[in-house]
Amino acid sequence: MDTITALTTRVSSPRLDQPGPSDEQLDLLLRAAIRAPDHGLLRPWRFIVLEGEQRERLGDIMEAQLLEDQPEADSRSRANARNKALRAPTILVAVAEVTENHKIPVWEQVLAVGAAVQNMMVAAYELNLGAMWRTGALANSDLAKRMLGFAPKDQVVAYLYLGTPVGNLKNLPDDSPADFIRTLP
Ligand SMILES: Cc1cc2nc3c(=O)[nH]c(=O)nc-3n(C[C@H](O)[C@H](O)[C@H](O)COP(=O)(O)O)c2cc1C
Repeated sequence: MDTITALTTRVSSPRLDQPGPSDEQLDLLLRAAIRAPDHGLLRPWRFIVLEGEQRERLGDIMEAQLLEDQPEADSRSRANARNKALRAPTILVAVAEVTENHKIPVWEQVLAVGAAVQNMMVAAYELNLGAMWRTGALANSDLAKRMLGFAPKDQVVAYLYLGTPVGNLKNLPDDSPADFIRTLP
């Protein structure tokens, strides 16, 4: 698949199975990520790649987050929370480790990491891998940031689930660029 086709037809894959990306494919995804535009060349992106049993560490974080939000959560809810970390063979956590009080504002640094994630999504699609960008409570929680090794100032930008799509890819929406064009007032 060429890149223009990937860019204009990409869809997410919410259901993913083994195998996950190979080491070679992961390397390509990360190379695509670090080519994202980056104002001031601050290189704000950090990536944690979780495969196999390493995903259980993410399950620990998911369970800890649940217990922080709902201290009374029962064992079934706790198991469900943990299992979310096993929804894909590979989960790549993308974090913006931002530089505060810099002439490049934090929001631009976070967007640069968002662009890096999108580069990975398009590259994954072009490689016939499935990908799903998730965030949720774990993206803005100081607890999750600390357990991932980051500071409250930093921003978790994505939990990027990667693997082999299960079933058919969904249909493209019927959007047209014209729907989003505005003229100057
Ligand atoms: C920053 C960001 C965070 C997202 N977080 C979630 C999420 O936590 N759960 C979810 O189901 N979809 C989430 N999505 C949306 C999906 O990744 C996906 O883009 C959406 O379902 C539309 O599907 P498509 O990518 O195939 O068009 C997020 C998207 C972005 C850009």
